[in-house]
Amino acid sequence: MRIVVAGGTGMVGRLVVSALGRRGHDAKVLSRSHGVDLSSGAGLDVALEGVDAVIDVTNARTTSPDEARRLFGGLTTNLLAAERRAGVKHHVLLSIVGVDRLTGSPHYEGKRAQEALVKAGGVPWTIQRATQFHEFAPQTLSWTRKGGTAMIPPLLLQPVAASDVADALAGLGAGAPQGALDLAGPGPEDLVDMVRRYIVARGESVTLIPSWRSGLFGVESAGEWFLPGPGATLAPTTFQDWLAQQIA
Ligand SMILES: NC(=O)c1ccc[n+]([C@@H]2O[C@H](COP(=O)([O-])OP(=O)(O)OC[C@H]3O[C@@H](n4cnc5c(N)ncnc54)[C@H](OP(=O)(O)O)[C@@H]3O)[C@@H](O)[C@H]2O)c1
Repeated sequence: MRIVVAGGTGMVGRLVVSALGRRGHDAKVLSRSHGVDLSSGAGLDVALEGVDAVIDVTNARTTSPDEARRLFGGLTTNLLAAERRAGVKHHVLLSIVGVDRLTGSPHYEGKRAQEALVKAGGVPWTIQRATQFHEFAPQTLSWTRKGGTAMIPPLLLQPVAASDVADALAGLGAGAPQGALDLAGPGPEDLVDMVRRYIVARGESVTLIPSWRSGLFGVESAGEWFLPGPGATLAPTTFQDWLAQQIA
């Protein structure tokens, strides 16, 4: 099948392109660095000619809820309009487990706007909601590290390897639309502990301060907001296995 990966140069997008290739599909990258800006929609019609399905793993970074809704909403609106014109038969969106439960995060506002547009967008859809990636540990460290210390929100997570999410998305893109699905990792983890194990595995020394004042997630994020419900699919790669792969 010919499948477009919107955001195919990104962290999870690159893995989706590889997973599609392994399954024998013709994967095509859509991103600004590949000549298509979804904010304007320029070049989209040509990019979607003859395409069977689109997997959307784009991202937008902002600290403003209004801007998040505008950015994610704009990308998704332009993409869906072009898919309808091109007759694309399946739109797959990567979203986040618990996105409709946790308020106050600009990113989550944007993702909720995206989900609503996909459900009403007139292209048969699947929304794959995933929990935070194992990669979230080093990302959080890089966002919060100041010299030899880093302030980490003590989130309760059930993280999943981005490669497992990419495999799931590749399988979904080549199949029939399935509505909303949850995907999580094999077991619960504590983000501070994940970051500490990552630092130790790399032989580094950083003092971690568990805190809700990092600017990333506030105290309203305490609790089980990020954990999957009973119907979620559980992916196989543990945080420990992922860590061992990174170090190897
Ligand atoms: N990190 C997690 O734990 C987690 C968990 C669940 C779900 N997710 C979701 O995963 C998605 C992808 O995250 P990521 O970390 O892989 O993102 P990323 O590395 O920042 O990649 C973003 C991708 O989007 C493309 N892009 C951005 N703006 C664009 C535009 N205007 N037009 C066309 N392409 C554009 C970028 O390419 P160019 O720069 O070349 O345009 C890039 O390929 C996000 O939506 C996030 O909500 C993440």
